Amino acid sequence: MSFDLILFGGTGDLAWRKIMPALFQAFRHGSLPDNGRIVGVGRDDLSDEQYRLLIKGRFDHVELAKRPSEEEFARFAALLGYLRMDLSNPADYPALAARLQQRPAEVVVMYLATAPGLFTTVCEQIAAAGLNGPQTRVVLEKPLGHDLASNRAINAAVRSVLTEKQIFRIDHYLGKPSVQNLFALRFGNSLFEPLWRREHIANIQITIAEELGVEKRGAFYDSTGALRDMVQNHALQLLCAVAMEPPINAHADAIRDEKLKVLRALRPWTPETLSQHVIRGQYAAGTIDGEAVPAYRNEAGVNPDSQTETFVALRTEIANWRWAGVPFYIRTGKRLASRDAHIEVNFRPTPHAIFKSPQGCNTGNRLVINLQPKDGLELHLLAQGADKRHSRGTPTLAPVQLDLDFDQRFGSERVGAYERLLLDVIDGRLNLFVRSDEQEEAWHWVEPIIDAWGNDHAGPRSYVAGTWGPSASSAMIARDGYCWSEES
Ligand code: BG6
Repeated sequence: MSFDLILFGGTGDLAWRKIMPALFQAFRHGSLPDNGRIVGVGRDDLSDEQYRLLIKGRFDHVELAKRPSEEEFARFAALLGYLRMDLSNPADYPALAARLQQRPAEVVVMYLATAPGLFTTVCEQIAAAGLNGPQTRVVLEKPLGHDLASNRAINAAVRSVLTEKQIFRIDHYLGKPSVQNLFALRFGNSLFEPLWRREHIANIQITIAEELGVEKRGAFYDSTGALRDMVQNHALQLLCAVAMEPPINAHADAIRDEKLKVLRALRPWTPETLSQHVIRGQYAAGTIDGEAVPAYRNEAGVNPDSQTETFVALRTEIANWRWAGVPFYIRTGKRLASRDAHIEVNFRPTPHAIFKSPQGCNTGNRLVINLQPKDGLELHLLAQGADKRHSRGTPTLAPVQLDLDFDQRFGSERVGAYERLLLDVIDGRLNLFVRSDEQEEAWHWVEPIIDAWGNDHAGPRSYVAGTWGPSASSAMIARDGYCWSEES
Protein backbone atom coordinates (compact mmCIF):
# COMPACT_ATOMS: atom_id res chain seq x y z
CA MET A 1 0.00 0.00 0.00
CA SER A 2 1.29 3.49 -0.76
CA PHE A 3 0.83 6.33 1.71
CA ASP A 4 1.78 9.95 2.15
CA LEU A 5 1.98 11.43 5.61
CA ILE A 6 1.89 15.21 5.57
CA LEU A 7 3.07 16.52 8.90
CA PHE A 8 1.83 20.08 9.41
CA GLY A 9 3.96 21.53 12.19
CA GLY A 10 6.83 19.41 10.89
CA THR A 11 9.48 21.50 12.64
CA GLY A 12 7.52 21.86 15.87
CA ASP A 13 7.93 20.41 19.33
CA LEU A 14 5.42 17.57 18.95
CA ALA A 15 6.86 16.48 15.61
CA TRP A 16 10.29 15.90 16.98
CA ARG A 17 9.41 14.80 20.50
CA LYS A 18 6.73 12.25 19.64
CA ILE A 19 5.77 11.88 16.00
CA MET A 20 9.15 11.45 14.27
CA PRO A 21 10.48 9.01 16.91
CA ALA A 22 7.23 7.02 16.59
CA LEU A 23 7.45 6.95 12.80
CA PHE A 24 11.04 5.82 13.05
CA GLN A 25 10.11 3.02 15.47
CA ALA A 26 7.33 1.90 13.10
CA PHE A 27 9.90 1.93 10.29
CA ARG A 28 12.42 -0.02 12.38
CA HIS A 29 9.78 -2.58 13.33
CA GLY A 30 8.95 -3.01 9.65
CA SER A 31 5.36 -1.89 10.28
CA LEU A 32 5.23 1.05 7.88
CA PRO A 33 3.89 0.09 4.47
CA ASP A 34 6.75 -0.05 1.97
CA ASN A 35 5.74 2.66 -0.37
CA GLY A 36 5.55 5.71 1.86
CA ARG A 37 6.52 9.36 1.96
CA ILE A 38 6.64 11.60 5.02
CA VAL A 39 6.57 15.31 4.24
CA GLY A 40 7.24 17.79 7.03
CA VAL A 41 5.49 21.13 6.52
CA GLY A 42 6.71 24.29 8.23
CA ARG A 43 7.34 27.99 7.76
CA ASP A 44 11.13 27.72 7.64
CA ASP A 45 12.82 27.79 4.29
CA LEU A 46 14.42 24.35 4.20
CA SER A 47 15.34 21.91 1.45
CA ASP A 48 14.47 18.22 1.79
CA GLU A 49 18.07 17.56 2.72
CA GLN A 50 18.17 20.30 5.36
CA TYR A 51 14.98 18.90 6.89
CA ARG A 52 16.51 15.41 7.05
CA LEU A 53 19.54 16.85 8.81
CA LEU A 54 17.32 18.73 11.27
CA ILE A 55 15.42 15.55 12.13
CA LYS A 56 18.67 13.57 12.37
CA GLY A 57 20.03 16.09 14.90
CA ARG A 58 16.89 15.81 16.95
CA PHE A 59 17.25 12.07 17.27
CA ASP A 60 20.29 12.82 19.42
CA HIS A 61 17.85 13.71 22.19
CA VAL A 62 15.96 10.43 21.95
CA GLU A 63 16.81 7.66 24.43
CA LEU A 64 19.68 5.52 23.19
CA ALA A 65 17.71 2.37 22.44
CA LYS A 66 15.38 4.35 20.18
CA ARG A 67 18.14 6.21 18.31
CA PRO A 68 18.85 5.17 14.72
CA SER A 69 22.30 4.10 13.55
CA GLU A 70 23.75 6.05 10.59
CA GLU A 71 22.68 3.31 8.24
CA GLU A 72 19.16 3.07 9.68
CA PHE A 73 18.70 6.82 9.53
CA ALA A 74 19.85 6.91 5.92
CA ARG A 75 17.15 4.38 5.00
CA PHE A 76 14.49 6.21 7.05
CA ALA A 77 15.57 9.57 5.63
CA ALA A 78 14.77 8.33 2.14
CA LEU A 79 11.08 8.64 3.13
CA LEU A 80 11.45 12.21 4.41
CA GLY A 81 10.80 15.39 2.50
CA TYR A 82 9.94 18.98 3.32
CA LEU A 83 7.56 21.63 2.08
CA ARG A 84 7.62 25.28 3.13
CA MET A 85 4.12 26.60 3.70
CA ASP A 86 2.39 29.39 5.57
CA LEU A 87 -0.71 27.48 6.57
CA SER A 88 -2.77 30.64 6.90
CA ASN A 89 -2.02 31.58 3.28
CA PRO A 90 -4.35 29.95 0.69
CA ALA A 91 -1.76 30.67 -2.02
CA ASP A 92 0.58 28.10 -0.47
CA TYR A 93 -1.75 25.09 -0.84
CA PRO A 94 -1.38 24.43 -4.59
CA ALA A 95 2.27 23.53 -3.91
CA LEU A 96 1.05 20.84 -1.52
CA ALA A 97 -1.37 19.55 -4.15
CA ALA A 98 1.46 19.45 -6.68
CA ARG A 99 3.67 17.50 -4.27
CA LEU A 100 0.89 14.97 -3.68
CA GLN A 101 0.14 14.63 -7.36
CA GLN A 102 3.76 13.72 -8.16
CA ARG A 103 2.86 10.22 -7.05
CA PRO A 104 -0.79 9.72 -6.04
CA ALA A 105 -0.93 7.54 -2.90
CA GLU A 106 -3.69 5.17 -1.78
CA VAL A 107 -3.74 6.77 1.68
CA VAL A 108 -2.96 10.40 2.45
CA VAL A 109 -2.64 11.26 6.13
CA MET A 110 -2.65 14.95 7.01
CA TYR A 111 -1.40 15.27 10.57
CA LEU A 112 -2.24 18.65 12.10
CA ALA A 113 0.45 18.97 14.78
CA THR A 114 -0.15 22.72 14.84
CA ALA A 115 -1.90 25.26 17.03
CA PRO A 116 -5.64 24.40 17.08
CA GLY A 117 -6.34 27.94 15.87
CA LEU A 118 -5.18 26.78 12.41
CA PHE A 119 -7.30 23.62 12.15
CA THR A 120 -10.28 25.28 10.49
CA THR A 121 -8.20 27.14 7.93
CA VAL A 122 -6.14 24.09 7.05
CA CYS A 123 -9.23 21.93 6.53
CA GLU A 124 -10.91 24.59 4.40
CA GLN A 125 -7.80 25.02 2.32
CA ILE A 126 -7.13 21.34 1.76
CA ALA A 127 -10.71 21.09 0.49
CA ALA A 128 -10.27 24.16 -1.73
CA ALA A 129 -7.18 22.53 -3.19
CA GLY A 130 -9.18 19.35 -3.86
CA LEU A 131 -7.20 17.33 -1.34
CA ASN A 132 -10.15 16.00 0.69
CA GLY A 133 -10.86 12.92 -1.43
CA PRO A 134 -11.75 9.54 0.12
CA GLN A 135 -8.07 8.58 0.45
CA THR A 136 -7.47 11.51 2.86
CA ARG A 137 -7.40 11.08 6.65
CA VAL A 138 -6.90 14.01 8.96
CA VAL A 139 -5.31 13.66 12.40
CA LEU A 140 -6.24 16.37 14.88
CA GLU A 141 -4.16 16.86 18.01
CA LYS A 142 -5.67 17.84 21.34
CA PRO A 143 -6.78 20.13 22.82
CA LEU A 144 -9.31 20.58 20.06
CA GLY A 145 -10.42 24.12 20.79
CA HIS A 146 -10.34 25.92 24.12
CA ASP A 147 -13.99 25.56 25.07
CA LEU A 148 -17.19 23.93 23.83
CA ALA A 149 -18.00 26.63 21.27
CA SER A 150 -14.55 26.60 19.68
CA ASN A 151 -14.53 22.79 19.70
CA ARG A 152 -17.89 22.71 17.93
CA ALA A 153 -16.71 25.27 15.41
CA ILE A 154 -13.62 23.19 14.58
CA ASN A 155 -15.60 19.97 14.37
CA ALA A 156 -18.20 21.62 12.12
CA ALA A 157 -15.51 23.00 9.83
CA VAL A 158 -13.72 19.67 9.59
CA ARG A 159 -16.95 17.75 9.02
CA SER A 160 -17.99 20.13 6.28
CA VAL A 161 -15.10 18.85 4.17
CA LEU A 162 -14.50 15.30 5.47
CA THR A 163 -16.66 12.46 6.75
CA GLU A 164 -16.39 11.30 10.38
CA LYS A 165 -14.54 8.17 9.17
CA GLN A 166 -11.78 10.38 7.79
CA ILE A 167 -11.27 12.28 11.07
CA PHE A 168 -8.82 10.90 13.64
CA ARG A 169 -8.94 12.93 16.87
CA ILE A 170 -5.93 11.74 18.75
CA ASP A 171 -5.64 11.25 22.49
CA HIS A 172 -2.34 9.47 22.86
CA TYR A 173 -3.33 8.00 26.23
CA LEU A 174 -5.68 5.66 24.36
CA GLY A 175 -2.68 4.29 22.47
CA LYS A 176 -0.65 3.43 25.55
CA PRO A 177 -0.14 -0.32 26.08
CA SER A 178 -1.18 0.17 29.70
CA VAL A 179 -4.53 1.59 28.65
CA GLN A 180 -5.00 -1.32 26.24
CA ASN A 181 -4.37 -3.52 29.25
CA LEU A 182 -7.10 -1.78 31.19
CA PHE A 183 -9.55 -2.75 28.44
CA ALA A 184 -8.09 -6.27 28.46
CA LEU A 185 -8.43 -6.51 32.24
CA ARG A 186 -12.04 -5.43 32.16
CA PHE A 187 -13.33 -7.04 28.99
CA GLY A 188 -11.02 -10.02 28.50
CA ASN A 189 -11.45 -11.45 32.01
CA SER A 190 -14.55 -12.20 34.00
CA LEU A 191 -12.92 -12.11 37.43
CA PHE A 192 -13.48 -8.47 38.29
CA GLU A 193 -16.67 -7.71 36.39
CA PRO A 194 -19.09 -8.85 39.15
CA LEU A 195 -17.21 -6.64 41.61
CA TRP A 196 -16.91 -3.66 39.28
CA ARG A 197 -19.83 -1.67 40.67
CA ARG A 198 -21.11 0.48 43.47
CA GLU A 199 -22.00 -2.45 45.73
CA HIS A 200 -18.30 -3.39 46.03
CA ILE A 201 -16.30 -0.33 45.15
CA ALA A 202 -15.89 2.54 47.61
CA ASN A 203 -14.06 4.98 45.36
CA ILE A 204 -11.86 5.23 42.29
CA GLN A 205 -8.84 7.51 41.98
CA ILE A 206 -7.15 8.51 38.74
CA THR A 207 -3.72 10.11 39.05
CA ILE A 208 -1.59 11.44 36.21
CA ALA A 209 1.40 13.04 37.88
CA GLU A 210 4.37 14.48 36.02
CA GLU A 211 7.76 15.58 37.31
CA LEU A 212 8.30 17.66 34.20
CA GLY A 213 7.44 21.34 34.15
CA VAL A 214 6.25 23.15 31.04
CA GLU A 215 9.58 22.64 29.25
CA LYS A 216 9.74 24.79 26.12
CA ARG A 217 5.97 25.12 25.85
CA GLY A 218 5.49 27.95 28.36
CA ALA A 219 3.51 30.20 26.02
CA PHE A 220 1.22 27.40 24.82
CA TYR A 221 0.72 26.02 28.31
CA ASP A 222 0.02 29.41 29.83
CA SER A 223 -2.99 29.84 27.58
CA THR A 224 -4.09 26.23 28.14
CA GLY A 225 -3.55 25.00 31.72
CA ALA A 226 -3.91 21.55 33.23
CA LEU A 227 -7.70 21.36 32.91
CA ARG A 228 -7.63 21.74 29.14
CA ASP A 229 -4.28 20.02 28.64
CA MET A 230 -4.94 16.86 30.67
CA VAL A 231 -8.37 16.65 32.33
CA GLN A 232 -10.69 17.39 29.38
CA ASN A 233 -9.02 14.63 27.39
CA HIS A 234 -6.54 12.14 28.92
CA ALA A 235 -8.04 11.96 32.41
CA LEU A 236 -11.64 11.76 31.18
CA GLN A 237 -10.71 9.08 28.65
CA LEU A 238 -9.20 7.05 31.50
CA LEU A 239 -12.32 7.61 33.53
CA CYS A 240 -14.40 6.32 30.60
CA ALA A 241 -12.17 3.26 30.22
CA VAL A 242 -12.57 2.37 33.87
CA ALA A 243 -16.29 3.15 34.17
CA MET A 244 -17.85 2.24 30.80
CA GLU A 245 -20.15 -0.71 30.27
CA PRO A 246 -18.73 -3.63 28.27
CA PRO A 247 -19.16 -2.71 24.58
CA ILE A 248 -21.05 -5.17 22.38
CA ASN A 249 -17.94 -5.69 20.24
CA ALA A 250 -14.53 -4.15 19.69
CA HIS A 251 -15.58 -1.89 16.82
CA ALA A 252 -14.90 1.80 17.04
CA ASP A 253 -18.47 2.97 17.41
CA ALA A 254 -19.42 0.28 19.94
CA ILE A 255 -16.56 1.45 22.18
CA ARG A 256 -17.20 5.11 21.61
CA ASP A 257 -20.93 4.76 22.30
CA GLU A 258 -20.16 3.35 25.74
CA LYS A 259 -17.61 6.03 26.55
CA LEU A 260 -20.10 8.68 25.52
CA LYS A 261 -22.69 7.30 27.95
CA VAL A 262 -20.22 7.70 30.82
CA LEU A 263 -19.48 11.30 29.87
CA ARG A 264 -23.20 12.04 29.64
CA ALA A 265 -23.74 10.55 33.10
CA LEU A 266 -21.10 12.68 34.84
CA ARG A 267 -22.78 14.70 37.55
CA PRO A 268 -23.35 18.26 36.43
CA TRP A 269 -21.55 20.86 38.52
CA THR A 270 -23.34 23.04 41.04
CA PRO A 271 -21.94 26.21 42.69
CA GLU A 272 -21.35 24.11 45.78
CA THR A 273 -19.50 21.23 44.09
CA LEU A 274 -17.49 23.70 42.04
CA SER A 275 -16.22 25.36 45.20
CA GLN A 276 -15.78 22.17 47.28
CA HIS A 277 -14.78 19.53 44.77
CA VAL A 278 -12.36 21.24 42.38
CA ILE A 279 -8.90 22.34 43.46
CA ARG A 280 -6.49 24.19 41.21
CA GLY A 281 -2.84 24.75 41.94
CA GLN A 282 0.26 26.31 40.44
CA TYR A 283 3.81 25.28 41.24
CA ALA A 284 6.20 27.51 43.10
CA ALA A 285 9.97 26.98 43.05
CA GLY A 286 11.10 23.70 44.57
CA THR A 287 13.26 20.66 44.06
CA ILE A 288 12.86 17.75 41.65
CA ASP A 289 15.27 14.82 41.94
CA GLY A 290 17.57 16.94 44.09
CA GLU A 291 17.69 19.81 41.58
CA ALA A 292 16.26 23.25 42.17
CA VAL A 293 13.55 24.15 39.66
CA PRO A 294 11.97 27.56 39.11
CA ALA A 295 8.42 28.61 39.86
CA TYR A 296 5.91 28.28 37.02
CA ARG A 297 5.66 32.07 36.79
CA ASN A 298 9.40 32.25 36.12
CA GLU A 299 9.33 29.75 33.26
CA ALA A 300 10.13 31.07 29.77
CA GLY A 301 7.03 32.20 27.90
CA VAL A 302 4.85 32.35 31.04
CA ASN A 303 3.21 35.57 32.22
CA PRO A 304 4.86 36.54 35.55
CA ASP A 305 1.36 37.18 36.98
CA SER A 306 -0.12 34.05 35.45
CA GLN A 307 -3.25 32.56 37.00
CA THR A 308 -2.94 29.40 34.91
CA GLU A 309 -3.28 26.13 36.82
CA THR A 310 -0.55 23.49 36.61
CA PHE A 311 -2.48 21.15 38.93
CA VAL A 312 -6.09 20.05 39.18
CA ALA A 313 -7.74 17.69 41.64
CA LEU A 314 -11.46 17.05 41.49
CA ARG A 315 -14.20 14.78 42.72
CA THR A 316 -17.09 13.70 40.61
CA GLU A 317 -19.75 11.00 40.40
CA ILE A 318 -21.32 9.04 37.57
CA ALA A 319 -25.08 9.07 37.79
CA ASN A 320 -26.05 5.60 36.58
CA TRP A 321 -27.00 2.24 38.09
CA ARG A 322 -23.47 0.90 38.19
CA TRP A 323 -21.81 3.89 39.84
CA ALA A 324 -24.36 6.05 41.67
CA GLY A 325 -22.79 7.42 44.86
CA VAL A 326 -19.23 6.23 44.15
CA PRO A 327 -16.77 9.13 44.19
CA PHE A 328 -14.32 9.32 41.30
CA TYR A 329 -11.28 11.47 42.03
CA ILE A 330 -9.06 12.85 39.29
CA ARG A 331 -5.70 14.43 39.96
CA THR A 332 -3.08 15.66 37.53
CA GLY A 333 -0.26 18.15 37.63
CA LYS A 334 3.19 19.20 36.57
CA ARG A 335 6.25 19.32 38.84
CA LEU A 336 4.77 16.79 41.25
CA ALA A 337 6.70 14.44 43.50
CA SER A 338 7.12 11.70 40.91
CA ARG A 339 6.14 10.64 37.41
CA ASP A 340 3.30 8.34 38.17
CA ALA A 341 0.07 7.58 36.34
CA HIS A 342 -2.23 5.02 37.86
CA ILE A 343 -5.83 4.19 38.61
CA GLU A 344 -6.68 2.95 42.05
CA VAL A 345 -9.87 1.00 42.63
CA ASN A 346 -10.64 0.91 46.33
CA PHE A 347 -13.03 -1.85 47.31
CA ARG A 348 -15.37 -1.57 50.27
CA PRO A 349 -14.19 -2.93 53.62
CA THR A 350 -15.57 -6.21 54.93
CA PRO A 351 -19.06 -5.72 56.38
CA HIS A 352 -18.02 -7.12 59.74
CA ALA A 353 -14.50 -7.14 61.17
CA ILE A 354 -13.22 -10.20 63.00
CA PHE A 355 -9.55 -9.16 62.56
CA LYS A 356 -7.78 -5.94 63.38
CA SER A 357 -6.84 -4.03 60.27
CA PRO A 358 -3.61 -2.10 59.93
CA GLN A 359 -3.74 1.64 60.58
CA GLY A 360 -4.09 4.04 57.66
CA CYS A 361 -6.44 4.21 54.74
CA ASN A 362 -6.39 2.20 51.50
CA THR A 363 -4.33 -0.56 53.13
CA GLY A 364 -5.91 -3.62 51.55
CA ASN A 365 -8.83 -4.39 49.28
CA ARG A 366 -7.57 -2.40 46.36
CA LEU A 367 -6.53 -2.88 42.79
CA VAL A 368 -3.95 -0.50 41.36
CA ILE A 369 -3.69 -0.29 37.60
CA ASN A 370 -0.26 1.18 36.91
CA LEU A 371 -0.08 3.10 33.66
CA GLN A 372 3.38 4.64 33.87
CA PRO A 373 6.28 4.59 34.39
CA LYS A 374 5.51 0.92 34.90
CA ASP A 375 2.69 -0.93 33.25
CA GLY A 376 1.10 -3.50 35.48
CA LEU A 377 -1.41 -4.46 38.13
CA GLU A 378 -1.11 -4.59 41.89
CA LEU A 379 -3.73 -6.36 43.94
CA HIS A 380 -3.45 -5.27 47.56
CA LEU A 381 -4.87 -7.66 50.11
CA LEU A 382 -4.62 -8.26 53.83
CA ALA A 383 -3.00 -11.41 55.17
CA GLN A 384 -2.01 -12.98 58.45
CA GLY A 385 1.54 -11.71 59.00
CA ALA A 386 4.47 -13.77 60.28
CA ASP A 387 4.40 -12.85 63.98
CA LYS A 388 7.67 -13.71 65.69
CA ARG A 389 6.05 -13.94 69.11
CA HIS A 390 2.74 -15.49 69.96
CA SER A 391 0.40 -12.56 70.58
CA ARG A 392 -2.84 -12.81 72.47
CA GLY A 393 -6.10 -11.20 71.39
CA THR A 394 -7.46 -10.38 67.95
CA PRO A 395 -4.84 -10.84 65.22
CA THR A 396 -3.85 -7.80 63.18
CA LEU A 397 -3.64 -8.37 59.46
CA ALA A 398 -0.73 -7.17 57.38
CA PRO A 399 -0.92 -5.64 53.88
CA VAL A 400 0.45 -7.84 51.08
CA GLN A 401 0.35 -7.43 47.34
CA LEU A 402 0.23 -9.43 44.15
CA ASP A 403 2.28 -7.64 41.57
CA LEU A 404 2.00 -8.15 37.82
CA ASP A 405 4.63 -6.36 35.77
CA PHE A 406 3.59 -6.29 32.12
CA ASP A 407 6.84 -4.67 30.99
CA GLN A 408 8.74 -7.62 32.43
CA ARG A 409 6.28 -10.13 31.04
CA PHE A 410 5.93 -8.70 27.56
CA GLY A 411 9.10 -6.58 27.24
CA SER A 412 9.24 -2.84 27.75
CA GLU A 413 9.89 -2.35 24.02
CA ARG A 414 6.25 -2.79 23.13
CA VAL A 415 4.67 -0.62 20.46
CA GLY A 416 4.46 2.91 21.89
CA ALA A 417 1.33 5.06 21.92
CA TYR A 418 2.13 7.34 18.99
CA GLU A 419 3.53 4.49 16.91
CA ARG A 420 0.41 2.45 17.40
CA LEU A 421 -1.94 5.34 16.71
CA LEU A 422 -0.06 6.43 13.58
CA LEU A 423 -0.24 2.90 12.20
CA ASP A 424 -3.95 2.81 13.04
CA VAL A 425 -4.48 5.98 11.03
CA ILE A 426 -2.63 4.55 8.04
CA ASP A 427 -4.73 1.38 8.35
CA GLY A 428 -7.96 3.34 8.87
CA ARG A 429 -8.77 1.92 12.35
CA LEU A 430 -10.73 4.37 14.48
CA ASN A 431 -11.12 2.36 17.72
CA LEU A 432 -8.58 4.36 19.67
CA PHE A 433 -9.63 7.78 18.42
CA VAL A 434 -12.17 10.12 19.93
CA ARG A 435 -15.49 10.84 18.24
CA SER A 436 -16.73 14.43 18.07
CA ASP A 437 -19.70 13.81 20.38
CA GLU A 438 -17.41 12.41 23.11
CA GLN A 439 -15.19 15.41 22.80
CA GLU A 440 -18.09 17.85 22.96
CA GLU A 441 -19.53 16.12 26.00
CA ALA A 442 -16.15 16.38 27.74
CA TRP A 443 -15.95 20.09 26.97
CA HIS A 444 -19.54 20.53 28.11
CA TRP A 445 -18.60 19.01 31.46
CA VAL A 446 -15.39 21.00 32.07
CA GLU A 447 -16.79 24.32 30.89
CA PRO A 448 -18.51 25.26 34.19
CA ILE A 449 -15.12 24.82 35.89
CA ILE A 450 -13.50 27.19 33.40
CA ASP A 451 -16.32 29.70 33.95
CA ALA A 452 -16.12 29.43 37.74
CA TRP A 453 -12.35 30.01 37.70
CA GLY A 454 -12.83 32.99 35.41
CA ASN A 455 -15.02 34.59 38.10
CA ASP A 456 -12.84 33.63 41.04
CA HIS A 457 -10.04 36.11 41.55
CA ALA A 458 -8.38 34.08 44.30
CA GLY A 459 -6.45 32.22 41.57
CA PRO A 460 -4.72 28.85 41.89
CA ARG A 461 -3.24 27.66 45.18
CA SER A 462 0.52 27.56 45.28
CA TYR A 463 2.37 24.29 45.82
CA VAL A 464 6.07 23.63 46.11
CA ALA A 465 7.51 21.89 43.05
CA GLY A 466 8.33 18.29 43.91
CA THR A 467 5.34 17.77 46.24
CA TRP A 468 1.89 16.28 45.61
CA GLY A 469 0.14 19.60 45.00
CA PRO A 470 -1.78 21.94 47.29
CA SER A 471 -2.83 20.51 50.66
CA ALA A 472 -6.43 21.34 49.74
CA SER A 473 -6.33 18.33 47.42
CA SER A 474 -5.71 15.98 50.36
CA ALA A 475 -8.28 17.84 52.44
CA MET A 476 -10.90 17.38 49.70
CA ILE A 477 -10.54 13.61 49.61
CA ALA A 478 -10.14 13.39 53.41
CA ARG A 479 -13.61 14.93 53.82
CA ASP A 480 -14.97 11.69 52.34
CA GLY A 481 -12.81 9.64 54.72
CA TYR A 482 -10.31 8.58 52.03
CA CYS A 483 -6.77 9.50 51.07
CA TRP A 484 -4.61 9.55 47.96
CA SER A 485 -2.52 6.45 47.42
CA GLU A 486 0.82 7.93 48.51
CA GLU A 487 -0.78 8.92 51.83
CA SER A 488 -1.81 5.34 52.59
C1 BG6 B 1 0.27 15.83 26.53
C2 BG6 B 1 0.26 17.14 27.28
O1 BG6 B 1 -0.94 15.61 25.90
O2 BG6 B 1 0.54 14.78 27.44
C3 BG6 B 1 1.59 17.36 28.01
O3 BG6 B 1 0.04 18.20 26.38
C4 BG6 B 1 1.90 16.17 28.88
O4 BG6 B 1 1.52 18.53 28.80
C5 BG6 B 1 1.79 14.88 28.09
O5 BG6 B 1 3.21 16.33 29.36
C6 BG6 B 1 1.92 13.68 29.00
O6 BG6 B 1 2.03 12.54 28.21
P1 BG6 B 1 2.84 11.28 28.71
O7 BG6 B 1 2.62 10.26 27.65
O8 BG6 B 1 4.26 11.72 28.85
O9 BG6 B 1 2.22 10.92 30.02
